[in-house]
Amino acid sequence: MSTLYNNHDSIEKQECREKIIRFVEKLHEKKKNLRILTLPSTNFYLEEVLSNIPGVVIECVEREKDIYEKQLKIIQGRKLNINLKNQDIFEYIKESNTKFDLIWLDLCGPFNKSIISNFISLIQTGDNLHSQSYIVLTILGKREQQGPDIIKFYGCKNLKEFRESKFPKLVGEMSDNTCTLQDLYQYPSGRMHTPMIQYSFINNFKNQLND
Ligand SMILES: C[S@@+](CC[C@H](N)C(=O)[O-])C[C@H]1O[C@@H](n2cnc3c(N)ncnc32)[C@H](O)[C@@H]1O
Repeated sequence: MSTLYNNHDSIEKQECREKIIRFVEKLHEKKKNLRILTLPSTNFYLEEVLSNIPGVVIECVEREKDIYEKQLKIIQGRKLNINLKNQDIFEYIKESNTKFDLIWLDLCGPFNKSIISNFISLIQTGDNLHSQSYIVLTILGKREQQGPDIIKFYGCKNLKEFRESKFPKLVGEMSDNTCTLQDLYQYPSGRMHTPMIQYSFINNFKNQLND
């Protein structure tokens, strides 16, 4: 019998959300109007908490049509003040003229070249990020299909080195050190969850032109 995971209700997943809440609270001390972009799945645990903070606007994205339909019903049923779009999050960001104060890419899938390049272009242009903003990426911490290619391409000994050292360094280099790692949270698989790694980066643009 295969193990049934319910990542959403694990203590570790809740800790991932608590980190986001703490970042938003920190930003809110200095700035009252904040724009947050998330991938909520169908629980909206985090989004419900954030939507109660005055001045916080929440935008959500979901690329799977069936999940999106469920989410629309939940938003209506729970009367959540959330804008939801049925789109890939990276496409949504590229097409948007909006600047966000926090983006949580809670992808929970494996690292792959497309995620790496989309993430790098997001932090490199800074077009969609305010000068003091958080960008958080949560991905699967298991062996992955593109692992050998990633190791070879980035000249790492193994995927662990890429995840824990090379990737955060790459983000710093590619953003001219405006985007730096604030927090790295990882947990192994457990009864209730698959292993994950969560990177929290902060963007500090050197001037205010980006705002
Ligand atoms: C791990 S769940 C989000 C969990 C939620 N943040 C929580 O706190 O429980 C990720 C959701 O994002 C969707 N998703 C994954 N990659 C996406 C992408 N590139 N664009 C849009 N939606 C995506 C998945 O279908 C899934 O519903």
